[in-house]
Amino acid sequence: MSEHVFNAKTIANEVAALFSEQIKGKTVLVTGVAPCNLGNEFIASIAPHNPGLLILAGRSIATLTKVQDTLLANHPSLNTRLLTFDLSSLSQIRKAATEVTEIDVLINNAGIMACPYEQAKEVNGDVEMQLMINHVGPFLFTNLLLKAGKVRDGGRVIIVSSEAHWLSDLKFEDLGYSNGTKYDIGGAYGQSKTANVLFATSLAKLTKITALALHPGGIQTQLLKHMPEPMMVAMRWKNDKGEFVDSDAMTWKTLQEGAATHVIASFDPKLEGRGGSYLVDGNVAMEKCAPYARDEKVAERLWKISEGLVGENFEFLG
Ligand SMILES: NC(=O)c1ccc[n+]([C@@H]2O[C@H](COP(=O)([O-])OP(=O)(O)OC[C@H]3O[C@@H](n4cnc5c(N)ncnc54)[C@H](OP(=O)(O)O)[C@@H]3O)[C@@H](O)[C@H]2O)c1
Repeated sequence: MSEHVFNAKTIANEVAALFSEQIKGKTVLVTGVAPCNLGNEFIASIAPHNPGLLILAGRSIATLTKVQDTLLANHPSLNTRLLTFDLSSLSQIRKAATEVTEIDVLINNAGIMACPYEQAKEVNGDVEMQLMINHVGPFLFTNLLLKAGKVRDGGRVIIVSSEAHWLSDLKFEDLGYSNGTKYDIGGAYGQSKTANVLFATSLAKLTKITALALHPGGIQTQLLKHMPEPMMVAMRWKNDKGEFVDSDAMTWKTLQEGAATHVIASFDPKLEGRGGSYLVDGNVAMEKCAPYARDEKVAERLWKISEGLVGENFEFLG
């Protein structure tokens, strides 16, 4: 049992060194890997600790290759694989899942925020793109891997959520915001991040793997690219000169600080059997999780609806 105390200043390199023994030999698959983002920072932090295989997933082979080149330049003996698929496409997700062999840790890290309205295609229902990419796609990918027995016993599934889940519960009666006519960029992101915590709740209940959700903190990445400037100023993320600032509303983290919770969730032995937990600053923090995001009945409802959207049941997990 590790008895380490983590906080918002804990960095990924430091915790990776702490859990070096747990990283050694593991096969780890991370979605949403690109230079200067959280997926990349997580991978770069664990790379020195002899993982068995790192599977870098993303939608652009050029981006993934860039990340792989840097990794191999620093760690020539590292075993890496690239997996290209778009989380907005059920057919690409299905194909990618067949290409994965056994893994120990899956991090559903890819995500989008506050993008202009777009309707998801290929799903059986009215769903907008933030819910599709942040929840429905990862729901299908994860469950296909579990169904095929590709997550090893003692394995983990980490779902990168956000404190923005407080912005909205699940709008089951109108998941797609009436074909976009009632679209709300913040609410839709919040809904998708609530779905992340609920998915971890269900996986913890239905499977033997340790499924955890986390909030990484606020980090200046490409995730912010769709956020309207006036909104960032109003939220005091930026000052009126357009510069990022710390305030009582937001204390920005570095990439290293942001990715620390990814490393802890994936490898801290203390979290074994703590499935369904929500982590903030490296610690289980259920008090920071909205009640609607950890309600088992709501989680069950979301599971059924998600099965309907992707056109496949995963009752085998029960
Ligand atoms: N940064 C923060 O402050 C913050 C706060 C709370 C939670 N989070 C969560 O942390 C996670 C990582 O965010 P980040 O800050 O590292 O964001 P980022 O820099 O925007 O990286 C997100 C990654 O997701 C990928 N992605 C987007 N749409 C995709 C799709 N349709 N199919 C496959 N991959 C797709 C992106 O690929 P492309 O490069 O091809 O676009 C990118 O690699 C997200 O789940 C986010 O919600 C971040």
